[in-house]
Amino acid sequence: MSEIKTDEREQLASRIGFLLISAGCAIGLGNVWRFPFITGKYGGAAFVLVYLVFLLLLGLPIMIMEFSIGRAGRKNIAGAIRALEPSKSKWHIVGYLGILGNIILMMFYTTVAGWGFAYLYREATGAFNGLEPAEIGAMFGAFLGSTGELIFWMAIVVLLGFFICSLGLQKGVEKAGKIMMSGMFIMLLILVAKSVTLPGASAGLAFYLKPDFSSLSGEAIYAAMGQAFFTLSLGIGSMAIFGSYIGKERSLTGESLHVMALDTIVALLAGMVIFPAAFAFGVDVGTGPGLVFVTLPNIFNQMLGGQIWGTLFFLFLTFAAMTTVIAVFENIMAFTIDEWGWTRKKAALMNGIGIFILSLPCALGFGPWSSFAPLGEGTVVLDLEDFILSNNLLPLGALVFVLFCTNGFGWGWSNFIKEADTGEGIKFPKWIKPYVTYVLPLVILIVFVMGWKDVILKLLA
Ligand code: ALA
Repeated sequence: MSEIKTDEREQLASRIGFLLISAGCAIGLGNVWRFPFITGKYGGAAFVLVYLVFLLLLGLPIMIMEFSIGRAGRKNIAGAIRALEPSKSKWHIVGYLGILGNIILMMFYTTVAGWGFAYLYREATGAFNGLEPAEIGAMFGAFLGSTGELIFWMAIVVLLGFFICSLGLQKGVEKAGKIMMSGMFIMLLILVAKSVTLPGASAGLAFYLKPDFSSLSGEAIYAAMGQAFFTLSLGIGSMAIFGSYIGKERSLTGESLHVMALDTIVALLAGMVIFPAAFAFGVDVGTGPGLVFVTLPNIFNQMLGGQIWGTLFFLFLTFAAMTTVIAVFENIMAFTIDEWGWTRKKAALMNGIGIFILSLPCALGFGPWSSFAPLGEGTVVLDLEDFILSNNLLPLGALVFVLFCTNGFGWGWSNFIKEADTGEGIKFPKWIKPYVTYVLPLVILIVFVMGWKDVILKLLA
């Protein structure tokens, strides 16, 4: 992509850089950690099909809108909405909430990404060798209770992420994105090849690929919707910033399709690593969030060369997590650069300190603060932060972006379509306007209400 310099704003060097960074923002723990365990919990292939439908119907139009807002406004989400909204209107408040959403996402994401680093270290140094399954389970529990260690690995994530961002948009964020995403794809393909050729892997493939709709519950459908939002980082404008760093050569519908396809391929392939291996070793896949951190080390322990496969898997997971961390840090930094005139170096230092401090409650929530159960018995600070983000800011933000792009009292349909369609590539299908204007907001509202219903029922139980 040849660069179009419309102002002094930094630009990405290449189209491939844009696609990989945006896909890197989407691809993360949501694909490698969350997607496999909720697919395991909700019954496999039928759930996956529903999830794919929601990606297309719900995720894709909203991603196109976020990219369009970013590219037309040429700023972080808050600045971009302010630049595009009708004068004296207050749409930009949602842009500020978007930045807040990016911060809240990082308040727990840095800790879980730190788990990935800790497990990479453990696998690489053979810490699991010879342990019984119960001991591996107990190790995860003890690790969560070891607050100093959680903070140490979280600090590594924060330091590394802001260091890369401080190197510049092209030299830091774009370069790291390209290297890590390429490495991640190669590791993923090697892991899939290993997993599907294990003796007994076919039962796992059948569970994952042969839908059984009788096992599909209402709760599973709601979970599939939520996962579609989370995996594409939609509703808090994380994607918009990358729209602001590109030229007008390519249509945003086509670019969004590419980003969504990359994200989906990684989620599906991550499942092809986990389910065949789990079935091959007779392991229950419905164990919830511990699937990756408890079940997989057990599986690697039983495999020939398991230490190498385990190391490769957690390296893959940390790469996936770090591409999201870097992309979201870039969002937060861009806000302080655009709005407050900070230099990139100052933004990296100040935001690095800020995010480190704000990430502490999540780490403390597993140790000294574990008696604080914000959403009922057994919940921790991480659950509260995830609830504020996933059940509130993501759907409500997405709702406002849709209203902003489809209504005359916002940015409006014609401005949105003009921006989305500028450039070569697939154009936005105009005949779906009634769907986008009326049905999509309703669907998002349903996601929002169902999410609250779950939490209220849990609190009353
Ligand atoms: N989209 C990011 C992920 O999937 C938040 O991890």
